Amino acid sequence: MAIEQTLLLIKPDGAARRLTGLTIDRLDASGLEMVAAKMVSVSEKMAREHYQALSDKPFFEGLIKYIRGEFHGIKDHRVLALVYRGEGAIRKVRDVAGATNPEQAAPGTIRGSFGRITTSGQFENVIHASSDPADAAREVALWFRKDEILP
Ligand code: TYD
Repeated sequence: MAIEQTLLLIKPDGAARRLTGLTIDRLDASGLEMVAAKMVSVSEKMAREHYQALSDKPFFEGLIKYIRGEFHGIKDHRVLALVYRGEGAIRKVRDVAGATNPEQAAPGTIRGSFGRITTSGQFENVIHASSDPADAAREVALWFRKDEILP
């Protein structure tokens, strides 16, 4: 398996519900290496760029509000961004996360245990994990400068 890098975000519901430590603990157990970490104040521009592929979806505007912490009272729009590296890192982090839809996520995954769908239809699924090598490369470069990532 190839050595990959992938982006993980603790989303505002994850922070509000105190799931940061648990998520990092699960990823520690997966054997991947954390090679970058920082708190980011997510601007409107950053949020729209991160989710650019979904800009035509009906849930897009809600998604922008959600990632900026507007549904969870997150001060300064802050999100914890992490980069994990290792063999098959993209798949391994997605396995810890579980499926996008919390109702379909396997029990025991982060999203399966803690995600929810709100009455307005917004998925609150606790963490973001890059979905494939192209997305991972784009997202890591969007959230981190090269000199913020361990060599
Ligand atoms: P997507 O990139 O399809 O999934 P993933 O985050 O697993 O890579 O979608 C991005 C986010 O958009 C997803 O984490 C939650 C939200 N979302 C909804 O609120 N409703 C939906 O029907 C979908 C597909 C996604």
